[in-house]
Amino acid sequence: MTLTVAIDGPAAAGKGTISKAVAQHFGFPHLDTGLLYRAVGKCILAGDDPIEAAQALKADDLDGDDLRTPEIAQAASKVAAMPEVRSALIDFQRAFARRAGGAVLDGRDIGTVICPEAEVKLFVTASDDVRAERRFHELAVKGHEVSLAGVLEDLLARDARDSARSSAPLKAAEDAVILDTSELSVDAAIAQAIEIIEQRLKAE
Ligand code: CDP
Repeated sequence: MTLTVAIDGPAAAGKGTISKAVAQHFGFPHLDTGLLYRAVGKCILAGDDPIEAAQALKADDLDGDDLRTPEIAQAASKVAAMPEVRSALIDFQRAFARRAGGAVLDGRDIGTVICPEAEVKLFVTASDDVRAERRFHELAVKGHEVSLAGVLEDLLARDARDSARSSAPLKAAEDAVILDTSELSVDAAIAQAIEIIEQRLKAE
């Protein structure tokens, strides 16, 4: 049996936290596909060619908290608009999605492009202010010198770029369930995601 759970949504909406918890609950591996684009983004900041970097990407390159900086996030969203970069990363994601047993993938285009046949699709959102607060807190705890206004600007710039690109834009799949986490605690958001997945599975 293969069960793919696709979790998409805008920047800092809570996809990562929910995906990890859902993966643990169902015993599935989890792929944060944002790390693929962040790893390529890091390469362009070092002066490399983005397409060659995407083609040469290895699983080892996805390790590490050092990919979660605001600079790399912006670079990631720039390389993510390049169709050749996206296509170089498709096979790896699809193989992960269809591994025996099941898998959870989170990103922007999992339910629409990478895995349109996913058995369960969630689109996780939250208000701009809530997302900015959460990301500001995450970055501040790690010692990044950021301001709330700067973080908000960064998220909105990325969302605008991610939504406007012609190649696999950020959008909810037609059959995705929308989960707005603005008013939810982490535990409540996770519980709702698990409930939605269980309902979808029962309906299969
Ligand atoms: O953690 P956060 O939501 O801030 O970002 P991320 O998921 O790590 O993604 C970083 C950037 O990679 C996004 O702004 C997108 O431009 C790009 N991305 C994408 O285009 N497609 C994906 N499946 C995942 C990420």
